Amino acid sequence: MYTIRFNFEQPGLEPVTLTNIEAGFSLLELALKNDIELHHNCGGVCACSTCHLYVEKGGDFLEELSDREEDFIDRAVNPKLNSRLGCQCLLQEGSGEIEVTLPDQTQFLGE
Ligand code: FES
Repeated sequence: MYTIRFNFEQPGLEPVTLTNIEAGFSLLELALKNDIELHHNCGGVCACSTCHLYVEKGGDFLEELSDREEDFIDRAVNPKLNSRLGCQCLLQEGSGEIEVTLPDQTQFLGE
């Protein structure tokens, strides 16, 4: 089981912590299920970069970065070393703490 904390770059949004999360879900799925806004223009198939987020902690619990994902991250706004695409961050079997930061979703994020 995982504990996942979502931080937000958008001013005024307080962090949200999800507890008792099972493996097998992506961070995008978990965000949407919990009314956390995260764009997903391609529907979660690694064909855009709008689900871009930063993994602050617990990256080892997530499915590894693929070359394709890396290509799309390069097109995201302000990519960093800890950038990932939320739809590709599948929780692996295990348990621990994961922390992510979502870019401001009110900004236009391009494709
Ligand atoms: S939703 Fe398009 S790459 Fe994740």
